[in-house]
Amino acid sequence: MRAEPVFTSWTEQESKLWGNQPVRIEHRLNKSPLFSMDGLADLIDRYPRQHYSLIQMGAPGQRKLWREGEIGDLSGAEVIEAIGKGRMWLNLRRVAEVDTRYRDLVNAIFGELSERVPGFNSIDESIGILISSPNAQVYYHADLPGQSLWQIHGSKKVYIYPAVEPFLAPEHLEDIALFGVEVNMPYEPWYDEHARCFEFKAGEMLNWPLNAPHRIENMNCLNVSMTMEYWTDDYKRAQVVNLANGILRHRFGHKPKSRATHGPIFWGKRVAQRLLRDTPALKRERKALRPISFRLDRTHLGEILDLEAA
Ligand SMILES: [Fe+2]
Repeated sequence: MRAEPVFTSWTEQESKLWGNQPVRIEHRLNKSPLFSMDGLADLIDRYPRQHYSLIQMGAPGQRKLWREGEIGDLSGAEVIEAIGKGRMWLNLRRVAEVDTRYRDLVNAIFGELSERVPGFNSIDESIGILISSPNAQVYYHADLPGQSLWQIHGSKKVYIYPAVEPFLAPEHLEDIALFGVEVNMPYEPWYDEHARCFEFKAGEMLNWPLNAPHRIENMNCLNVSMTMEYWTDDYKRAQVVNLANGILRHRFGHKPKSRATHGPIFWGKRVAQRLLRDTPALKRERKALRPISFRLDRTHLGEILDLEAA
């Protein structure tokens, strides 16, 4: 017997727009027990340390701030309460690897996508769950794999920008490929005139074209979203070029001219980036960019303890 579809408002229009333009589609995950508050608290209780990130960010309109921390000895329910009172977000990465029920969900979603989008063929899919504070923000950035965002609880504003200059330049993608975070991706308020802005509610999902920059502003409520990432053969080839060109630029001071994803230059880059992408120096640089500097305070839910002082 076939399960109920995950997408509940898909039309032919979405099949044509998927991957080419931002699209908003309805879904039913907000009603699934996998995403109830009790279900999420239980998931946090047994979530492996190496698979989550806890980030504190600056207040809206204030200086950009980004700190990484850990949840310490709080229970899952306490973590959710702390996020509800603080200004941070918890990203449960690789959920499908941690719990097979979410793997089944990923399979169902991508099964539907391959039926609905002509030629859609993903080779590597993952989901994460993002629990974030009222009025939290995600700064302007771009991602390397294909991306969708699913709103489960609460609401937020999502701004999606065109994946072309000046909003996005090749060196931004190279930096993300090399260092794993969005280093120096410039943002100007006037970019918003060129963005699509979505008032994003529970039961909706958004998909946008590859690498399209985006930023997010939560409304004044706790937010739970699911992030979904996927690669296709073309996306993987673009990733090889980003990494190889990044290495050329950073290690050898060479300005890359080609972004070809086929032919001899591409294959040369493919070999070179395999040799150079995980050198000890690069690993140290990545780690230095993401130090763990705070822990949640169990006695004052919503507040944090600096790790040096703790
Ligand atoms: Fe993103």
